[in-house]
Amino acid sequence: MSYTVKTGFENMDLQWVIKALQSTYWADDRSGETIEKSMRNSICFGAFEGEKQVGFCRVITDCATTFYLCDVIVEENLRKSGAGSAMMQAVISDPLLADLRGILGTKDAHGFYEKFGFEKNDKLFMQRWTKVFR
Ligand SMILES: CC(C)(COP(=O)(O)OP(=O)(O)OC[C@H]1O[C@@H](n2cnc3c(N)ncnc32)[C@H](O)[C@@H]1OP(=O)(O)O)[C@@H](O)C(=O)NCCC(=O)NCCS
Repeated sequence: MSYTVKTGFENMDLQWVIKALQSTYWADDRSGETIEKSMRNSICFGAFEGEKQVGFCRVITDCATTFYLCDVIVEENLRKSGAGSAMMQAVISDPLLADLRGILGTKDAHGFYEKFGFEKNDKLFMQRWTKVFR
C-alpha cells in the first residue's frame, strides 16, 4: 500500500487523531483538549490513504540538538502495511530533524524503531511521572 505523509497541525484530522490516541494504552485518559494542545505545540506527521488519515505521530524538539518522537499510531486494520514506515521515513529525513539526536519511549515496538536507526539504551534514561501524566 502507498501512503502520503503530510506535516503540520493544520493538515491533521484532529478528530481522527483524538480517537486514535484515546484507543491506545498510553493516552486512553488524555482529553481531546490536551491532545489538541500537544499537537499545536509539536511537529505533527500524518499518514494518509487518499484524503483519509490513517496514521499519526508527533515530534517535540529544540530544533538544534534533540527531538522526542511520540504518539505514534496507525489505524488498527491497516497496520503492517507500511503507514508507520512512511511516517518514520518522513521524520528522520525532515530537514529540521535529520541531523538531531532522536529519542523515544516504547513498551513493545522496539523492532519497528530499530529499522530506522533507534537503539535501545536502558541505562541512560530517567523519567518523572506526575499525577496527571504517566
Ligand atoms: C507500531 C506501529 C506504529 C507500526 O506501524 P505499521 O504501519 O504497522 O508499521 P509498518 O507496516 O511500516 O512496519 C514496518 C516494519 O516494522 C515491523 N513492525 C510493525 N510494528 C511492529 C512492532 N510493534 N514491533 C516490532 N516490529 C513491528 C513490521 O513487521 C515491518 O517489518 P518488515 O519491514 O520486516 O516487514 C503500528 O503497528 C501501531 O500503531 N501499533 C499500535 C500502537 C503502538 O504500539 N505504537 C507505538 C508506541 S511506541
